[in-house]
Amino acid sequence: MFNDTSTLRSHLATRRSGKARDMIAPGPDANELRDIIALALRTPDHGKLAPWRIVTIAANQREAFATLLKNAWVAENPGAAGMDLSALDQFAHQAPSLAVLISTPVRDSKVPIWEQQMSAGAVGMNLLHAAHAHGFVGSWLTGWAAYSPAVAQAFGVGNGDTIVGYFFLGTAGADLSERPRPEYDDIVSTWDI
Ligand SMILES: Cc1cc2nc3c(=O)[nH]c(=O)nc-3n(C[C@H](O)[C@H](O)[C@H](O)COP(=O)(O)O)c2cc1C
Repeated sequence: MFNDTSTLRSHLATRRSGKARDMIAPGPDANELRDIIALALRTPDHGKLAPWRIVTIAANQREAFATLLKNAWVAENPGAAGMDLSALDQFAHQAPSLAVLISTPVRDSKVPIWEQQMSAGAVGMNLLHAAHAHGFVGSWLTGWAAYSPAVAQAFGVGNGDTIVGYFFLGTAGADLSERPRPEYDDIVSTWDI
């Protein structure tokens, strides 16, 4: 797909997230989604531990996902209703495609847990880049659904594992206006002793 350096540069310079709630069809088909994920797995990984898992949620499982979120929310917030639950319904059903990225660090490795978690974050960034390379937009979201123990359990998240995020993929349904980026000089300095 990328023939020269300038194309690669343009890819990096133009990728940005879409709002999941604005995404429309088409999303990646099964083969495209598989390729997006396979590309994302080409991620630096100290010790070759592959300390990450990805669970895709198919279109016909979105309702079950919504039910999971609502049940977990009500269990954690007795009496919850109305807006809370409709927001969870909206979250579960938005965007054509959804993949859940989980950090699964290997406890008894000499590679620090932090490094393994960073590798999981790198998989997340790669997912967004791979989606962009396929002509889609992505959105990396966490929020309550990423930190609820009951939701985590439903995704087979073990002790010490973390949901890194929900990756919604699709076609941008609204203009992607650029957001402010940090000033280079605020971030980067030259070491000078
Ligand atoms: C780990 C992580 C979690 C995020 N969770 C949320 C979230 O729950 N809600 C939200 O509105 N944005 C969240 N964001 C930010 C969105 O992904 C946002 O669209 C993104 O930072 C835009 O960056 P971009 O323009 O470079 O693609 C999260 C970002 C990261 C890295």
